[in-house]
Amino acid sequence: MKDKKQQLTPFFTKLKEYGESDVVPFDVPGHKLGRLPNDLSAFAGKGIYQLDANAPRGLDTLSKPTGIIKEAQALCAEAFNADRAYFLTSGTTGGIIAMIMATVRAKEKIILPRNVHKSVINALIFSGAIPVFVKPDLDNNLGIANGVSFQNMKRAMDDNPDAIAVFVINPTYFGVVSDLKQIVDYAHEKNMLVLADEAHGAQFYFSKLLPQSAMDAGADIAATSMHKTGVSLTQSSILLTKGDRVDQFKLQSTLNMIHSTSPSAVLLASLDVARKQMYFEGEKGIEKALKLRALMVPKFNEIKGVSILDESYAVKRGYDFGFDSTKLVIKVADLGLSGFDVYRMLKDRFDIQLELAETYLVLAIITMATTKRDLDRLYKALQTISDENYEQNQSLPKIKFHYNFPEPFVRPREAYHAPHKIIPLADSENEISAESIMIYPPGIPMLIPGEIINASFLEDLDFYQQSGSVIFSELNNGYIKVIDKENWEKWEDSDEL
Ligand SMILES: Cc1ncc(COP(=O)(O)O)c(C=O)c1O
Repeated sequence: MKDKKQQLTPFFTKLKEYGESDVVPFDVPGHKLGRLPNDLSAFAGKGIYQLDANAPRGLDTLSKPTGIIKEAQALCAEAFNADRAYFLTSGTTGGIIAMIMATVRAKEKIILPRNVHKSVINALIFSGAIPVFVKPDLDNNLGIANGVSFQNMKRAMDDNPDAIAVFVINPTYFGVVSDLKQIVDYAHEKNMLVLADEAHGAQFYFSKLLPQSAMDAGADIAATSMHKTGVSLTQSSILLTKGDRVDQFKLQSTLNMIHSTSPSAVLLASLDVARKQMYFEGEKGIEKALKLRALMVPKFNEIKGVSILDESYAVKRGYDFGFDSTKLVIKVADLGLSGFDVYRMLKDRFDIQLELAETYLVLAIITMATTKRDLDRLYKALQTISDENYEQNQSLPKIKFHYNFPEPFVRPREAYHAPHKIIPLADSENEISAESIMIYPPGIPMLIPGEIINASFLEDLDFYQQSGSVIFSELNNGYIKVIDKENWEKWEDSDEL
């Protein structure tokens, strides 16, 4: 039974009334609710400016909600089976930084998989927490990292009984989920908090056909990108909490350090509206999308050189806790092309924008807004690429790529604050990195501050550079920022590398 209360959109409704009213705006923003026409209003309509109020009386305050934002957050919490929800206008990035800073202090331990998003590494720098990395399942045939097993998480918890929190990704970019319930129960037995990155998991809350959500599994906090796999505007996310293990005052005050003092009302309104839409339409919409996928996957699999990952992949790798089938993971390496090649071809020749490419695959995200026509176009494009490449590329040497992570030497915050120097990448083997380097998307750092640069990292980076991937690093010009060991006190006391 649906709760009629969820029809309400307290924040959006009041904001719209305000934008349509005859208010005399002597406050910011300077566009004064869109009085001066411009190119954007000509395209998107004046409405977008009418909704772009800052903090007028009656519209509540994100940093200390007592009115309509509080009501909207409460409705959101109910819809997500959480006890509380906090709206975020800084994406899940902001939520992740806040949840780690609010729960794990400097020099306290947090257990987490190494294949986390860059926001988690930055959160470690802000908080000063000591990461205890758990190796995820690395699939070198596909060049991706998957989940972490309960056994590996349990071992890390047993070996580090003083850890404050355990961090999980639910699901990974490629749809794999860990045994969240078992991890949560064991962590709670050990008196540890469970923090979940649900940047790709907003849809789990609205469909029984998908894996368990973090809140349903009993996690303490989840940062959930409503804008990625939900239907809100880009940069709008939510932070959900359950139970009383997390200090809510500390969480709100930490969020207030991260929030702009002028959070976008348009983004907040889009969260309010998206929550209502997903609550009422999510279940059917996701079911329809999954049916479309099920209809198309056998056709995709008939294309020579193309295969789609499904639940059996996760099960084969020991992850039988469901699979997020809204992720269309398309293996293309058997076409004799890299994922990067196919990603570029699809956009440049067929006007099809995928989410990302990896060495051997490309990823398409399906949501309740995906249509049959979209999947048909993708199918036809891949068929054409296969017709043009499959036969003649079979004699080409196979791509060789090894997915791994370097060893840590100091925690990220220490590396961040240590003296630095900039050296050529070619001379950097055995140095300690002072920066994060990653391809984007997915934004999972191959190297983080405090890790020891090794030959395998340098080879992988070179491979990515050759493949034309977008590389996020501080310098991007053949140089890298490393710790200046000669001028670093810590180095004097250490057994050198
Ligand atoms: C696994 C993961 N976590 C966190 C984030 C950050 O999310 P947002 O873009 O909403 O800040 C991303 C973004 O790509 C992600 O892939």
